[in-house]
Amino acid sequence: MVSKDDIQKLIEATDMAALVSPYVKLIKSGSGYKGLCPFHSEKTPSFSVSQDKHMAKCFGCGKGGNPIQFLMDIKHISFIEAVRELSKINNMELDIAPPNPLEEQYKKYYEINELALNLYTRNLWHTKNGEKALEYLYARGLSKELIEEFKIGLAPSESDTLYQVLKESNFLELDMVDVGLVRSSGDRYFDVFTNRIIFPITDERGKILGFSGRIFNDSDKQTAKYMNTSETPIFKKNNILYNLERAISGIVQNDRIVLHEGFMDVIATYRSGIKEAVCSMGTQLTQNQIKIIKKYTNNVILCYDGDKAGILATYRALDMFEKAGLKVKIVRLVDAKDSDEFVHKFGTDKYVEYFNSHQQEGIAYLYQSLTENLDINDTDKVEEVKKTLFSILKNKQSQSLLEKYIGSLADLLHVSTSSLYLDYDRITGFTNKNVPRKPRTDFDLKVKKIIISRIFELRIFEYAKISKRNALEIDRFLEENDAFYALDSKNQEIWILMINDFYKKNEDYNEQKFIELLEKHNLFDCYYNNALSLKNGSFNKYGDIDLQACLKMLKENAIAKRIGKIVENIKNSQEINSDLKKELLLKSVAERQKFEFVRNKNKKQKNN
Ligand code: CTP
Ligand code: MN
Repeated sequence: MVSKDDIQKLIEATDMAALVSPYVKLIKSGSGYKGLCPFHSEKTPSFSVSQDKHMAKCFGCGKGGNPIQFLMDIKHISFIEAVRELSKINNMELDIAPPNPLEEQYKKYYEINELALNLYTRNLWHTKNGEKALEYLYARGLSKELIEEFKIGLAPSESDTLYQVLKESNFLELDMVDVGLVRSSGDRYFDVFTNRIIFPITDERGKILGFSGRIFNDSDKQTAKYMNTSETPIFKKNNILYNLERAISGIVQNDRIVLHEGFMDVIATYRSGIKEAVCSMGTQLTQNQIKIIKKYTNNVILCYDGDKAGILATYRALDMFEKAGLKVKIVRLVDAKDSDEFVHKFGTDKYVEYFNSHQQEGIAYLYQSLTENLDINDTDKVEEVKKTLFSILKNKQSQSLLEKYIGSLADLLHVSTSSLYLDYDRITGFTNKNVPRKPRTDFDLKVKKIIISRIFELRIFEYAKISKRNALEIDRFLEENDAFYALDSKNQEIWILMINDFYKKNEDYNEQKFIELLEKHNLFDCYYNNALSLKNGSFNKYGDIDLQACLKMLKENAIAKRIGKIVENIKNSQEINSDLKKELLLKSVAERQKFEFVRNKNKKQKNN
């Protein structure tokens, strides 16, 4: 057991500034140091380090404390692990409780991996075959220092060199097989990796979990480009982020992580000076990896390959990160399939410049990449786009974003926003009775309200078709209540066509004639989509509401929309003079009063 005295000695022996500096840029302040807190994001430093008191603590969020507490918080490790680590840093031998048996077994695995890596690196730097591998690495732009820093090695080309070395060191065959370095065939043992460039894969503390080997000879092209350690007790691909060990201090300092698809991309970004890059080694992103990322930062920059698979993986990752509440930006590469190729072609300076100036907000990227080559006549594709866009937008819980992208998509597809709101409703499934209901959020309720009023908007056309009298009555109502402009702009056009054109010349409604008129004005697509949305079932979903109720809703909606506009105007105009601001505010108050009045009246009538 470690005694209290030992702990005290350990704390007092610690150079706090040295311990903290990999994570925080420290500035001298009085007798100690100050810096931006690594545990929460802030603009003015409240993280303070005292050499005399042996403390490193944030006065904003309260995290940190003595060196043990600091290590526990920053590395997310247990008390005992922090004590062990600190005693190693301070070169103090402490009587720390023996690790449990499982830990003993794991220790053996780590030792085997260490020994293997030792062989691999020696083989890279000191053999004839190593020269060829080095030549390959240099040709890919890796320097000697970088190869050393990433501890890259080379598996010998003979079939059992590693096995012999491990045997000589008295490791058990069972353990070598367990850790995925040796396989048995009959009564003989063979190395799993031969003649491949080896990337050790470590956890955040630098312990080697497994390896990945890449071919480097043209003659090996018929075998898999990369080969990884199979799943072992310590190598669990779903829990691993390559390079996390070296990336951590950058992640904490810059409060962001860069996520790639492959090793070479991570290394390319790293050698360009952006140190916070990791990758999930070609496999799909997992919830466990998100959990690990979330321990350190809430900001992710996704930079996957630019091919179809990479784009799909980006959509998927974006959705997962959004659901987990992380903020995502996307760097989309052009003229190169991945970061490694970009750096190879254009150099590290150009890469950093590109990387820093091409970070797109997640949804903006999503919208752009979904729609840029979209054939709007390909209905299957259009449905796919809606599905992807809406399911990811739903995570955002932002009404204004929803309005923004539904607006853009409506323009692009030449349909009304009303019909898209109904599609949104259908795709995100919150009116689908078969989907178990999640507790409703405020957002759901708001969106639902929009959707209901959109349905009313479409219904007035149905009422108007019943008779000219109906149509004119609705038109007068819209005019008198300023509700016309609450309609979607496409629906405004259709309405004008119906009243000022169709019913001017005809006494009775005729679908065939009206459609011809719509076609002449390029509005048929929109009209058709509206009709389809209503027929999809939503029309009857909210009960049979009569024309009067429908108009009342539109009136409410019109006022609400005006209030929204005014508020947006106030928000958007920072440079606005105070008189104008006052005027806008008063306008908004008046509109609000009107809204309350109309709503109360509607409610009263409903109750009677
Ligand atoms: N990968 C793998 N097994 C393979 C191919 C790929 O495990 N047979 C993983 C590797 O981690 C690789 C990542 O998937 O880094 C991305 O694969 P890919 O894009 O094909 O390779 P690159 O990263 O471009 O590799 P390189 O530049 O070395 O060709
Ligand atoms: Mn590549």
